[in-house]
Amino acid sequence: MKTIIINGSPKGNARNSNTRIISEEFVRGMKTPCDIKCIANSDLEELAHHIEKYDTVIIILPLYIHAMPGIMMNFIEHLKPASIQGKYLGFIIQAGFVETAQEKYVERYFASLAKQLNYIYLGTVSKGEAAGIYMFPKMFKKVLKKINDLGKIYEETHAFDQNIIEDLGKPYELSKIQTFLFQLLCDLGLNNVGWHKMLRQNHAFDKRLDRPFL
Ligand SMILES: Cc1cc2nc3c(=O)[nH]c(=O)nc-3n(C[C@H](O)[C@H](O)[C@H](O)COP(=O)(O)O)c2cc1C
Repeated sequence: MKTIIINGSPKGNARNSNTRIISEEFVRGMKTPCDIKCIANSDLEELAHHIEKYDTVIIILPLYIHAMPGIMMNFIEHLKPASIQGKYLGFIIQAGFVETAQEKYVERYFASLAKQLNYIYLGTVSKGEAAGIYMFPKMFKKVLKKINDLGKIYEETHAFDQNIIEDLGKPYELSKIQTFLFQLLCDLGLNNVGWHKMLRQNHAFDKRLDRPFL
């Protein structure tokens, strides 16, 4: 089965793109590594045409504002239904928030999109708490190993391993105790890193839950 990986991050091939790291880890060690192409900076018409040469398309993407990035939506607009039966479409979503429950709406959409495009749905793998991968790759060694195993098993079986999907998908939702501990971290100011730090530096932290369009 000839497979192409599509990197759906607006950062494309940049060093700080977690999608790039995950895509490369997925194919690392394969006997015949899959081709990888980025949506960012591509001619979308050409790319949509190019993927028709493959039996399977796996799209790896981040979640931006609880949804897929705009360039990814734009790319989908260029896709045409497969002209022959038996082609597969799968997805790997990675995002910053801990709970993978936020991915459920995009997942549902991807399942129906595959059907609309006359592809067999290979499934969706979801991973939360992934924003720090490029900053602290050593801390994410286990996660990257699971992604690597996912790729190796995919090459052997042409399927996403269910155990790894379940593992990477945890926690789907935080338990009450986890929520309490998380709240404690916030109250103590120990979460003043990354995104939160940036919001504070820009005097936007108190406005982070505003809903201006309501
Ligand atoms: C503009 C923007 C919006 C984001 N929105 C979300 C979000 O709604 N939920 C979430 O879990 N992570 C969100 N993130 C975090 C990204 O999903 C996470 O950092 C991901 O690993 C980025 O992948 P990339 O480096 O390949 O683009 C956001 C990041 C950015 C830059």
